[in-house]
Amino acid sequence: MIEQTVNIDDRLAEFEARIARGEKIEPGDWMPDEYRRQLIRMISQHAHSEVVGMLPEGAWIPHAPSLRRKMVLMAKVQDEAGHGQYLYHAAETLGATREEMLDALLTGKAKYASIFNYPTLTWADVAWIGWLVDGAAIKNQTMLAHASYGPYSRAMVRICAEETFHYKQGKEMIVHYATNGTPEQKAMVQDGLNRWWNPTLMMFGPHDSDSTNSEILMRWGIKTKSNDELRQEFINEEVPEVHALGLTIPDPDLHFDEESGNWIIGPIDWDEFWRVVKGNGPMNAERLAARRDAHENGRWVREAMTAYAEKVHNHV
Ligand code: 3HC
Repeated sequence: MIEQTVNIDDRLAEFEARIARGEKIEPGDWMPDEYRRQLIRMISQHAHSEVVGMLPEGAWIPHAPSLRRKMVLMAKVQDEAGHGQYLYHAAETLGATREEMLDALLTGKAKYASIFNYPTLTWADVAWIGWLVDGAAIKNQTMLAHASYGPYSRAMVRICAEETFHYKQGKEMIVHYATNGTPEQKAMVQDGLNRWWNPTLMMFGPHDSDSTNSEILMRWGIKTKSNDELRQEFINEEVPEVHALGLTIPDPDLHFDEESGNWIIGPIDWDEFWRVVKGNGPMNAERLAARRDAHENGRWVREAMTAYAEKVHNHV
């Protein structure tokens, strides 16, 4: 028998050729270690973001202004838990364990989306999360639905379909309060916009020149658009919609550039972004404390499930 040794360069070339042909890479397929590492990093951060993202809105479930709004919000928060599940599963297909990922989150080692470290001070914040935060998430995730890794791209298709409802319910509320609301509701909507606009733009990540991961992610078809490209598309789509409601975007430098057809924003406060990402945002400590409590309170469920599984296994 002739032993076949496959050269690592050949494997990499074949892997990259598959990506170039638009084929999906599936869990059992050969992949470079760095591809696997990048995916676990990104998908687990994404999963944590979905789960931590339940907290700012979940806090408003008891205070929703009507039964209809409460039902919509409960369904939305529940959807986010489901998104976390799909994503943890997608990361598990790459060899990451649930325990490792949760441990990284609960010990503060893992990153998750900066946006969820801001407080929801009024009901309008719930509406802005739907419009702006979910809108930004959709912009990023419709791109990721084309990612080269099969389980991640398929999770994105399903998540984006649900996020579209989240976006619409948020926008519907803002449109309603901004056009038919009382003066207090109109002021509440403007105040929410003042606080959520800039943190939303930061969600897309640092400028391309400072994005350490983009190059390899784009080479291997995980990301197909850069942080700045997506941010600009989002700004171009949302600015006219916000202006149409007579609201003021909190950026004195914002202007339309005829030549490029882009809305140009002023400088983003990256010091604030990195403070939040490194754990020192307004709500980081509270968010992690809430997740640790939830994990501890769920201990008995995990123990009961393990005991049940062992019992079933021993009887087989
Ligand atoms: N919040 C926290 N950390 C961020 C961040 C953000 N908004 N943007 C970037 N970072 C981190 C990166 O994770 C990276 O850190 P690491 O190398 O230690 O992991 C560092 O800043 C440098 O940034 P890069 O541009 O090099 O990072 P990426 O190329 O990975 O791009 C990203 C960042 C655009 C967030 C990309 O990872 C991505 O598309 N992730 C998947 C989508 C995702 O996680 N979305 C989070 C929001 S989900 C959500 O909002 C829930 C919904 O229900 C509303």
